[in-house]
Amino acid sequence: MSASSRPTIVAANWKMYKTIADVGTYMSSFYDALPDAGTGVRLVFFPAAVLIPAVVEAVAKRAQVGGQNCHWESEGAYTGEVAPRMLAAAGAELVLVGHSERRQLCGETDAQCAKKVVAVLSAGLDPMLCVGETLEEREAGRQQAVVLGQLSRAIDGLSRDEYSRLALAYEPVWAIGTGRTAAPADAQQMHATIRDAVASIASPSIASAMPILYGGSVKPDNAAELLGQPDIDGALVGGASLDAHDFAVIAAAAAEVAA
Ligand code: PGA
Repeated sequence: MSASSRPTIVAANWKMYKTIADVGTYMSSFYDALPDAGTGVRLVFFPAAVLIPAVVEAVAKRAQVGGQNCHWESEGAYTGEVAPRMLAAAGAELVLVGHSERRQLCGETDAQCAKKVVAVLSAGLDPMLCVGETLEEREAGRQQAVVLGQLSRAIDGLSRDEYSRLALAYEPVWAIGTGRTAAPADAQQMHATIRDAVASIASPSIASAMPILYGGSVKPDNAAELLGQPDIDGALVGGASLDAHDFAVIAAAAAEVAA
């Protein structure tokens, strides 16, 4: 637990990388490099849906596993889609909703994100909602309006219990996979703004308990500084999570900050 009593969450977003054959080797290297299994830190892996059962087995309860996306219906004629309850049956406990790659490359809208958040909760899974502005939006000074708009349109009107199961990830689009990281102070400012918005949308006590992760080129050498910010409660790591050793170093840095 961090000083604030919010959990510190370190999550790996494997995107469309790795196959089932990679899982065993990755996990042995990861846990060899992280002897205390990241004590004090909640670890989550978001692999491609077909890898979920293999990752669940390999982490053996030392980490949680989540889906990277889902449909908002619980079943139906939606070729190529995966329902939240299918992810749950495969062993997932969380689902990422609204990752910027889904918004940008697959045209996912805030309205769809809102339906997905509800569907994930209804299936007994916990949503992790991603929000973030593009470079163009930041340069136009619209970053707060964009992020708070994405947030309020996706999470308005949930119950207290539902809010307590939600986590957020602030991922500035210009920092994802680019090697450009938000300056820790800028990230902290946006996280504090997001927390204030959650206080208005839900309640101050829900806001102060809600984990808000930072994502966007988190690496072994910048993780500690980002995670040391008071409103940054964890990291959603893409590129650097593909390397078991790098991800273990990030998890260890988080454990040290959380201690
Ligand atoms: P990145 O990706 O760490 O490669 O920037 C983060 C994400 O997309 O979740």
